[in-house]
Amino acid sequence: MLSLKHLSKTYADGTRALSDITLTVHEGEIVALIGGSGCGKTTLLRLIAGLDRESAGRIRLDGEVLSGPHPAVGIVFQEPRLLPWLTVFENIAFGLDGVSAAEKNARVSHALEKIGLSEHANRWPRDLSGGQQQRVSIARAFVTNPKVLLLDEPFSALDAFTRASLHEHLLGLWEETRPTVVLVTHDVQEAVTLADRAVVMQPKPGRIFDELPLTLARPRDRTGLPFESSVRRILTALDHSLKAPQEQPQRERDRQAAALWW
Ligand SMILES: Nc1ncnc2c1ncn2[C@@H]1O[C@H](COP(=O)(O)OP(=O)(O)O)[C@@H](O)[C@H]1O
Ligand SMILES: [Mg+2]
Repeated sequence: MLSLKHLSKTYADGTRALSDITLTVHEGEIVALIGGSGCGKTTLLRLIAGLDRESAGRIRLDGEVLSGPHPAVGIVFQEPRLLPWLTVFENIAFGLDGVSAAEKNARVSHALEKIGLSEHANRWPRDLSGGQQQRVSIARAFVTNPKVLLLDEPFSALDAFTRASLHEHLLGLWEETRPTVVLVTHDVQEAVTLADRAVVMQPKPGRIFDELPLTLARPRDRTGLPFESSVRRILTALDHSLKAPQEQPQRERDRQAAALWW
């Protein structure tokens, strides 16, 4: 279980990126964080990943306080961040330290199969499409078998068809080991396709506005009414989050509300 308690982050320049975030993510749960730019979503993932330190509060994984990068926590960014001098196979194998060659071979081959890129094992990242590269970075994150996987808008640069196929690949990998997933997304449909819960955030300072359970059975039918009604519930929460009082003067708020929305 991943537990965030009263987490705050104020940057050196005084920006209050996060204020009093309390959130529990259960083992194997997929939580989608949704909100406009500047809500502190990336900051939150960076704190959980141990890439930055919180100003106040605590992060615990199964009771253990996280205070830096942890081998059980993996992260995937918006851009694939593959190492250009390594092949696809070597990129996926990169984080598998202390594993025998045979085991490494078996695990990477299996991951390649799950993402549908077995035939591309010996290619260079530059020879792959953007969607294929992102599949490789997702496989690289899964191959270490993390307890927690953090995804920061990993599909937002891709077209709708590629995105839908990556959702399937992600769920295929997730079903095998069921890591706890925190997914940041701008895309409400993506949240309803993937998540067990949507957490709507609000900026200045970044905080949680609302939480909505997503209990549709999997695999989820994106054309059905239950799906549509979940999308609507999240959109309504997002609308309310923009109208709710914020800690700044009204005129400044109106000016920013116009610019805020992706
Ligand atoms: N290194 C930093 N120094 C100062 N301010 C930052 C830094 N990183 C992010 N911020 C600010 O913190 C707020 C939250 O940013 P971020 O976590 O990137 O939000 P999101 O991912 O939701 O768009 C924004 O106002 C942003 O400008
Ligand atoms: Mg961000």
